Amino acid sequence: MSTTNVIKCKAAVAWERGKPLVIEDVEVAPPKVHEVRIKIVATGVCHTDWEYLTGKGMKFRPFPLVLGHEAAGIVESVGPEVTKFSPGDKVIPLFLPQCGECDRCQSPKTNHCRKNWAHTQRGVMADGTSRITHQSQQVYQFLGVSSFSQYTVVPDTSLAKIPSNAPLDKVCLLGCGVSTGYGAALNAGKIEKDSSCAVFGLGAVGLAAIMGCQAAQAKRIIGVDINPDKFEKAKMFGATECVNPQDYSKPIQDVLVEMTEGGVDCALECVGSPVIMSAALESTKDAWGTCVIAGWSETEAMSVNVEKILMGRTLKGTYFGDWKSVDGVSKLVEDYMNNKLKLDEFITNNLPLDQINVAFEHMKIGKGIRTVISLWPEEASDTVATLKMNQ
Ligand SMILES: NC(=O)c1ccc[n+]([C@@H]2O[C@H](COP(=O)([O-])OP(=O)(O)OC[C@H]3O[C@@H](n4cnc5c(N)ncnc54)[C@H](O)[C@@H]3O)[C@@H](O)[C@H]2O)c1
Ligand SMILES: [Zn+2]
Ligand SMILES: [Zn+2]
Repeated sequence: MSTTNVIKCKAAVAWERGKPLVIEDVEVAPPKVHEVRIKIVATGVCHTDWEYLTGKGMKFRPFPLVLGHEAAGIVESVGPEVTKFSPGDKVIPLFLPQCGECDRCQSPKTNHCRKNWAHTQRGVMADGTSRITHQSQQVYQFLGVSSFSQYTVVPDTSLAKIPSNAPLDKVCLLGCGVSTGYGAALNAGKIEKDSSCAVFGLGAVGLAAIMGCQAAQAKRIIGVDINPDKFEKAKMFGATECVNPQDYSKPIQDVLVEMTEGGVDCALECVGSPVIMSAALESTKDAWGTCVIAGWSETEAMSVNVEKILMGRTLKGTYFGDWKSVDGVSKLVEDYMNNKLKLDEFITNNLPLDQINVAFEHMKIGKGIRTVISLWPEEASDTVATLKMNQ
């Protein structure tokens, strides 16, 4: 039987581009056909949230908007025709669906499922409206998720069920940054044993890429960042050395080519800057070097020297680390639970929802790696799993 109650709860609303988020009382409508309403317990704050808020390099998204897309929570209720989820299930919402039925889901070549795509990119659900309102005004949803809200509604094809003992305040990071970087190395870069790699940008995505290079037993893993505070952590994740482009008078790609006597086998761009993307490509070895772009930009172009490609290099991008989202996230949660994957080490700050703007400030000044936001800070962690069904 489907739920009909509207839930009133707190959400951080982005009213205008570039302005701080405002904590508001919002209404979250019941889930419609093939939708699931979830109680968000924890959410990471990703660089992509920040880019959409400030608008740099991004296509326009309508405001007001509830950002957030790297989260974990508990199913509160399900809409009609939902068969795979039940209230109480622990879940990770996904900004990339996996419907399992389309030609892309059936092909091993890609993870780019397009189920509900046009709608979620416009900030609405399949019926053309958002489930979140503020005093009856529609508040758009972000990438089909909107985890900076205590409750949200997502399509049932954009949700991964996870074990009931998974710690939500840690595994939330698998909803975006860590999965993306780790998969960028393993799936897109196909890093080989004893190879040399360079990872540009040592935020959560870059550190996860380093973790992937290490898992693939790369011999040399060079971390590149203009913020040397990131180097210690990068080494802990497996970087064999770190370089700061600002320490050199020549371009960083020339430095890397020299260091590796010809270029790295694989370079991973985890910054989101077209200039760095070109530098990453140019730091790879001719004949077989691969450059993987994980950093995000939707409106800018990168420049490619044709000769670099003619000489046998490959340039590719990755969305969500090339993981088929539902299958990939379930596997990665399992890997974390079996101590095969680090997550706790990415978290350098925990804040309640009402301090979410502080998380963006930290990101802006390069302090720490990931902030995890608690949506229910007043609930003790052992009671946080208890659903408040009748709010
Ligand atoms: N492809 C995807 O599916 C996907 C998913 C998640 C995030 N992203 C993107 O990945 C990128 C990284 O995200 P994050 O959350 O790790 O960001 P972050 O802000 O935590 O980290 C970025 C790092 O890049 C460094 N940096 C900045 N300028 C640099 C330069 N000129 N040279 C070297 N390093 C530099 C910063 O010091 C910082 O350490 C962003 O563009 C984000 O939008 C893409
Ligand atoms: Zn993200
Ligand atoms: Zn699909």
